[in-house]
Amino acid sequence: MQGPDLTGSILEGRYRIFGRLGVGGMGAVYRGEHVLLGIPVAVKVLLPKFAHDSEWTHRFLLEARAASQIRHPNIVQIRDFGAPHAGLVYMVMELLEGESLAGLAKREGPLPWRRVARLSEQVAEALAAAHARGIIHRDIKPANIFRLAAPEEPDVIKVLDFGIAIPRRQRRRCR
Ligand SMILES: Nc1ncnc2c1ncn2[C@@H]1O[C@H](COP(=O)(O)OP(=O)(O)O)[C@@H](O)[C@H]1O
Ligand SMILES: [Mg+2]
Repeated sequence: MQGPDLTGSILEGRYRIFGRLGVGGMGAVYRGEHVLLGIPVAVKVLLPKFAHDSEWTHRFLLEARAASQIRHPNIVQIRDFGAPHAGLVYMVMELLEGESLAGLAKREGPLPWRRVARLSEQVAEALAAAHARGIIHRDIKPANIFRLAAPEEPDVIKVLDFGIAIPRRQRRRCR
C-alpha cells in the first residue's frame, strides 16, 4: 500500500511535490522543491496506515530529530519536519541523486571487495558518528544506503532512514 500520490500538490504552502522517488516500508519519498527558495528537496511522507497512529507519528518525529542531530558527510541531512493535520506527517531532506546499494547490487551484481571495503568504511564512519551522539540506526541494509551519482567522486554514500533508530536514553525507557 503506497498511499495517495501527492504528486502535483504543495505541502503547507512551502514544498512543491513533483514525483515519487521510492517507497519503503514506512513512507513514500518524493522529489520536490522549496516553493520560495527553489531549492531541490526530498520529502518523505509517512504511509497513511502509520500516519493515523500516534506511536508511529512520534517515531517518525524521533527519526527526524535523531538524523538531524548528526551532521556527517555520510548521513543524509534532514531539513524540516511537519505534521499539519491528522494522517499527514512529512520530513524534508536534502535531495540525493543516485541509487541505493540494493539497486546497485541488482544492476551490477556482486561488487569487487575493494569497492565493498570503501563503501563499508563510509557506513562505519556514519554509524560511529551516530553512536557518538547516542543514536543506534538498527536498520542498516543495502536499501538504506544511498550511493551518490557523482562521476568525479565515485562511491560516496549516505546512510538513510533512521526510521527505527532509537536514542540510547529512550531505548532504556522503551524496554
Ligand atoms: N534524500 C533522498 N534523496 C533521494 N532519494 C531518497 C532520499 N531518501 C530516500 N530516498 C529513496 O527512497 C527510498 C526509501 O527511503 P527510506 O528513507 O529508506 O524509506 P522507508 O523508511 O520507507 O524505508 C530509498 O531507498 C531511496 O531510494
Ligand atoms: Mg528504508
